[in-house]
Amino acid sequence: MKVDLLLGLQWGDEGKGKIVDVLTSKYDIIARFQGGPNAGHTLVFNNKKYVLHTIPSGIFHKNKINLIGNGVVIDPVILCKEILNIKNENIKISETLLISKKAHLILPTHRILDAASEMSKGKNKIGSTLKGIGPTYMDKTGRNGFRVGELENKKWKDKYVELRDKHIELIKFFKVNLNFNLKKLEEEFFQSVDELKKIDFVDSENFLFEANDKKILAEGAQGSLLDIDFGTYPYVTSSNTTAAGACTGLGISPNSVNQVFGIFKAYTTRVGSGPFPTELFDSYGERMSKVGNEFGATTGRPRRCGWLDLVALKYACRVNGVSKLMMMKTDVLSGFDKVLVCTNYNYKGKIIDYLPYDLSESSLKPVYKEFKGWSEDLRQIDSFENLPKNLNYYIKFLEKELEVPIVIVSVGPDRKETLFR
Ligand code: IMP
Repeated sequence: MKVDLLLGLQWGDEGKGKIVDVLTSKYDIIARFQGGPNAGHTLVFNNKKYVLHTIPSGIFHKNKINLIGNGVVIDPVILCKEILNIKNENIKISETLLISKKAHLILPTHRILDAASEMSKGKNKIGSTLKGIGPTYMDKTGRNGFRVGELENKKWKDKYVELRDKHIELIKFFKVNLNFNLKKLEEEFFQSVDELKKIDFVDSENFLFEANDKKILAEGAQGSLLDIDFGTYPYVTSSNTTAAGACTGLGISPNSVNQVFGIFKAYTTRVGSGPFPTELFDSYGERMSKVGNEFGATTGRPRRCGWLDLVALKYACRVNGVSKLMMMKTDVLSGFDKVLVCTNYNYKGKIIDYLPYDLSESSLKPVYKEFKGWSEDLRQIDSFENLPKNLNYYIKFLEKELEVPIVIVSVGPDRKETLFR
């Protein structure tokens, strides 16, 4: 079995959904390995736009299997809404979507716990998407979780009630004023569970072992800088978003990994709280936000914008063992008179080229290299060879610094606006 991995190298929202969709024709199975409905993978084709949260981004291609792996946390309510949203595309979900029995379920009280925990943190809040991700992974590692396979047990509601009641006690611990109608949330949850049961639950690791002759693409969610271990902790998500997460989130061995595709934006964005050394608060940042339509696909929150951070990107390439790079939203930078790249940090007066433990604003300042901008409308360009000279120079510089080739440059949200090298 050979698996290619596709991962975000920044703070998420790099454009993974689009690239998975573009690459799917080369694969038989698309397998999501971590995260949950905190993700929002946007796909644009035939003048239509879809945002997927849990369903792998290969779903719009015929005759492909889309697997939700054991490392994913699933909210049945959101998953059912996603299925409803794509119903006009005539996709036979019962034939093309599989769910791992070992994936964990997000219960309504996980979402309430998420909100209570965030509220109690005040100005130190993580900026969570409030989809219940953290509490669900906490129950998983605490060995209290509720797995999809449990739904095959006739008495699954007993376990549900036990966990829900425990959560209700925990919610009280936070001493926050939260309004919620649990009865209503539960009604919606139970209805969605009934729908979920129409999808095949599988022993997913076994399914993948047996797919020996098949080509598999593992789809990551969020980005490396949100990884629970290697991200900007505690302002991170609760799963391993890096390459190792694909092994644990699907049950594949490290030696089955072939290519590691790293996706990054030509600049940087972040949604939620936490350090962001190259963040901009000027007209350049405003322009990125406006032209790039930088609003969260899941929460609609404005994304913070800044220049490309090569120090962080190099770190992500190393942690993941990236073999090929894909640069997204390059068109957004057209018309900038200059483009800056952070090549080093000034860390407490010393110039360094690595990501230190302490990324706080007071101790770390970015050091920039300036490039000439380009004014051409990239969306009109149809081949790598025709990219503007100044952009070519920018790409070459990044490749030299990162020591990894850039094989795709994305110049617009549509499938078609993708230049291959
Ligand atoms: P959570 O995973 O929803 O608890 O959110 C934790 C942090 O990760 C917050 O700063 C979120 O904004 C961020 N985050 C989670 N999922 C995504 C994503 O798919 N894209 C970008 N940021 C995300």
